[in-house]
Amino acid sequence: MDYAQFSQNELIKMLDNERKAFKQVQKRGISVDMTRGRPESAQLAVSMPMLENAGTYNYVEDGVDARNYGQLLGIKSARELYANLMGCKEDEVIVADGSSLDLMYTVVQFAMQFGVLGSTPWNKLKKVKFICLTPGYDRHFSICEHFGIEMIAVRMRADGPDMNLIESIVRDDDSVKGIWCVPKYSNPSGITYSDKVVERLATMKTAADDFRIFWDNAYLAHDLYDDGDRLKNIFDVARKAGTLDRVYAFSSTSKITFAGSGLACFASSQSNVEAIAHELFFKTIGPNKINQVMHVNFLKNLSHIKEIMRKHAEILRPKFKLFDEKMTQEFEGDNYVNWSKPRGGYFISLDVKTCAKRVVELSAEAGVKFTPAGSSFPYHIDDLDENIRIAPSVPTLDEMDYAVDVLISAIKQARMELVLKKIYHFDARA
Ligand SMILES: Cc1ncc(COP(=O)(O)O)c(C=O)c1O
Repeated sequence: MDYAQFSQNELIKMLDNERKAFKQVQKRGISVDMTRGRPESAQLAVSMPMLENAGTYNYVEDGVDARNYGQLLGIKSARELYANLMGCKEDEVIVADGSSLDLMYTVVQFAMQFGVLGSTPWNKLKKVKFICLTPGYDRHFSICEHFGIEMIAVRMRADGPDMNLIESIVRDDDSVKGIWCVPKYSNPSGITYSDKVVERLATMKTAADDFRIFWDNAYLAHDLYDDGDRLKNIFDVARKAGTLDRVYAFSSTSKITFAGSGLACFASSQSNVEAIAHELFFKTIGPNKINQVMHVNFLKNLSHIKEIMRKHAEILRPKFKLFDEKMTQEFEGDNYVNWSKPRGGYFISLDVKTCAKRVVELSAEAGVKFTPAGSSFPYHIDDLDENIRIAPSVPTLDEMDYAVDVLISAIKQARMELVLKKIYHFDARA
């Protein structure tokens, strides 16, 4: 809908009607917090057998008692399982406690304080910069802000990051030490990197020898459909190119079993694994291996993980579909409203030109909370004020139905207000 074609009076009337309709919608009295991509209860129930069977598992593996201290890098079977998931070798894996974000923070902290593989500690340098893909995962950007790492925003394209731009940035500037990547079903765009992008990232020339790709493969098993996206194995490419030290890969079972109570993983070259283990030694005597035994017994192998993820997909898919159907009905062909149609992961990325903040604000008035507009950008600056991250996992279907009704009305109102202000200099919010 091009609201600019209406007169001021027509628009004021239309806005008034929309506001009345909005009040009617609100009578359903639902409130939904979609600020983060939390699994819903039905998904958590999928993994309850793991806890119910906890007493039946064998906690002694090859003479190692998982109930005791030790095994800094994780138990053998858990490292094996993760090596299969990540597509690397068992001795290239550290299996740690519940959160991959914790591991990412720790690894950045180690680099800042101690350097990587003998390089100058990053906090001794005048400047450290990371490339941050936009829209991207807000928590990656928070880590950078926390450590005073300067963020260079680079736009995502349909096949992953803009590689021409990235190659030109890292080739000449040795203060650029890292890039955050969510290579499969990116948060929030849902994009999976093409083979070419993976190859270029692994092989590009970097001015900094201690440049690292923070490969956050959080959604490696999170397909919504049986024919999920396929991501090229960066370990294969980097191994062949002799750049394996460049890859710092992460993942977790937060959205396979239990968020915050699963297993997290770091995978990289053996040299990096040894270097990180050297620092971890001072931090802990070993991870929660009881949880590792439980996960290995429950998850079993890749094909069983696929089966478990199919159950999650059955719960998630209808909510992604409902969003797409309702938005298509309302905004199909509308240049001002665009949204992603991911085949996996946890998010839909919605663009509403120059009125994202207002849409989030209006939705909150009807009890529907989205991540604050701008969160998916470094320093929370979305120049175009257009991006909103939608987390369909959180609401039930009924709540999702309500949330999209609220969102649609909020978008219409925000756009009418915008046109009234821009064209007629009339402040409809006053
Ligand atoms: C891309 C990405 N990485 C990491 C995380 C957090 O993972 P964990 O629970 O393992 O800390 C999330 C959670 O939403 C995420 O979207």
